[in-house]
Formats: sequence, C-alpha cells, structure tokens
Amino acid sequence: MPTALVTGASAGLGAEFARQLAGRGADLVLVARSEEALEALAAELRAQHGVVVEVLVADLATEEGVGHVVQRIADPGRPLDMLVNNAGFGLPLRFADNDIADEVRHLRLLVEAPMRLMHAALGVMRGRGGRIINVASTAGFISRSTYSACKSWLIGFSRWANDEYASDGVTVTAVCPGFVHTTFHSRMGLAAGQEGVPRFMWLDAPYVVRVALHAAARGRGVVIPSLRYKAMIAGSRLVPRSVSTRIARRGRM
Ligand SMILES: NC(=O)c1ccc[n+]([C@@H]2O[C@H](COP(=O)([O-])OP(=O)(O)OC[C@H]3O[C@@H](n4cnc5c(N)ncnc54)[C@H](OP(=O)(O)O)[C@@H]3O)[C@@H](O)[C@H]2O)c1
Repeated sequence: MPTALVTGASAGLGAEFARQLAGRGADLVLVARSEEALEALAAELRAQHGVVVEVLVADLATEEGVGHVVQRIADPGRPLDMLVNNAGFGLPLRFADNDIADEVRHLRLLVEAPMRLMHAALGVMRGRGGRIINVASTAGFISRSTYSACKSWLIGFSRWANDEYASDGVTVTAVCPGFVHTTFHSRMGLAAGQEGVPRFMWLDAPYVVRVALHAAARGRGVVIPSLRYKAMIAGSRLVPRSVSTRIARRGRM
C-alpha cells in the first residue's frame, strides 16, 4: 500500500486529502497541532477503510516540530510515496500593522516548512519515485502582502522542482485554489459571509482535492482548480499590475 503524509490534516483541505487518499487505500501519516482532531480522524479512517494511520503532533512553525516530521519522512524503514504540504493560515493583509513574530511564524509555516519537508522527501523518493503536492493559492499569482508572496514562492519552486526531478520519478504539483469552504477564514476571525467574497467564487474542499490528486497523478507542475479561476488568473495577466493589485484588495484567499 502507498503511504502519504499530509500536513494540516486536522481540518479543511488536509482532512479532505486524508479522506480521499484513505478511500483509495493509502496508509497515512497525519500531521498538525490538534492531537484530538487528528486522533478522531485517524479512528474514522481506520474503521472505514482499514488503512494504517499514524498521528504525528507537530507545530510546523517551530524548529522542533519540523525536525520531528523530517525525521519521520527520512525513516528508511517506512518510506513515503506521497507528501502533501498543506498546513497554513492567513494574517490580516496590513503587513506593517501585524506583529512581526506572527509574520515570521507565517513565513516558516508557508515557506520554510514545505521546503524542508520536500528536501527530506526528495531524499527518499528520488529513484524510488513519489509525488509531492504543495497547496499554494491563486493568491500566489497576484500581489497581496506576505501571504501571496509566500504562495508565489511555492508555485515557482514547485514548477521548477517538477521539471528537475521528473527524471528521478518524482512529481511536484502546486495546487492553486481560490476561496474554499474550510476553517481558514473563521480562524482569521471572519464569520461566514464577512469575507467580502461573492458566493459563486467559493469552491468545495472535495472538488479541490480531487483536482489536486488528478493533477499530481498526471505529473502537472501547477494546477488551478475550476475554469472560473483559470479565467480570472488569465485575465489578471492582461491588466496593469496597479489594477490587479487594487482588485486583489477585495476579499481574502
Ligand atoms: N480556504 C481557502 O480559501 C484557501 C484558499 C487557497 C489556499 N488555501 C491553502 O490551503 C491550505 C489549507 O488551508 P485550509 O483552507 O484547509 O485551512 P484550515 O481549515 O484552517 O486548516 C489549516 C490546517 O493547517 C494546520 N496548521 C495551522 N498551523 C499549523 C502549524 N503551525 N503547524 C502544523 N499545522 C498547522 C491546522 O491544524 P492545527 O490547528 O491542528 O495545527 C489545520 O489542519 C493552506 O495552505 C491555505 O493557505 C486555502
């Protein structure tokens, strides 16, 4: 059975990755900080699908947490076939007003952690084969504070790594959803409907994860779920940056 490690598996897209992968018969390593939520999901997936599920409690914005997960990935006795770098959170967009310690945690979780977990995964996957999925965002194609800068880094790095490691049998796919119904916005203190986003722009997690797994299976470097977001991103490239930046101030993704 293939084994997949999913970060941020206690909620939202990460929990949905875990559900769909277990449904396809994959054994799992679930990573996040909320032990209770991870254990509940692990019990559900073991009972429903008969797969092996490990729970790894780690704060990926800390040295200790990342080190713990790197150690598991690098374990030669229990090699992984898939890594899903998904854990993330958002900050208010007014960078200069944010606490710099929060910005550093955000950068570590969105950039440093996926880079270090990818480095460890490539160490065991090269030659043997494997798939890496990096959950980025359509925000990575526009200019909007540090969140979009972090996601832009993840998209560019994934695109390069997918070409670079194809000959070693490893694919790297950046998944770039727009707004998705998860706990992401409520964790930022935004009640449902307060995000300033029209209803038609919301995607469902099961759809995003299906698109992501399909794109990874096809070895795609970057994928944007849904035609409407593909069209919006293509359109944003046709207007001056000042205009797309002004539009991007609306809503939060
Ligand atoms: N929802 C959207 O509209 C949207 C759009 C585009 C991209 N994305 C991206 O999708 C990914 C998943 O987000 P989501 O929407 O599913 O959000 P979510 O429902 O809030 O889930 C976030 C997950 O990340 C984990 N996490 C947060 N901080 C962590 C830390 N320091 N260490 C380890 N795990 C941590 C959380 O678990 P614990 O709290 O238990 O640690 C949780 O499992 C993120 O990378 C986000 O940027 C989301």
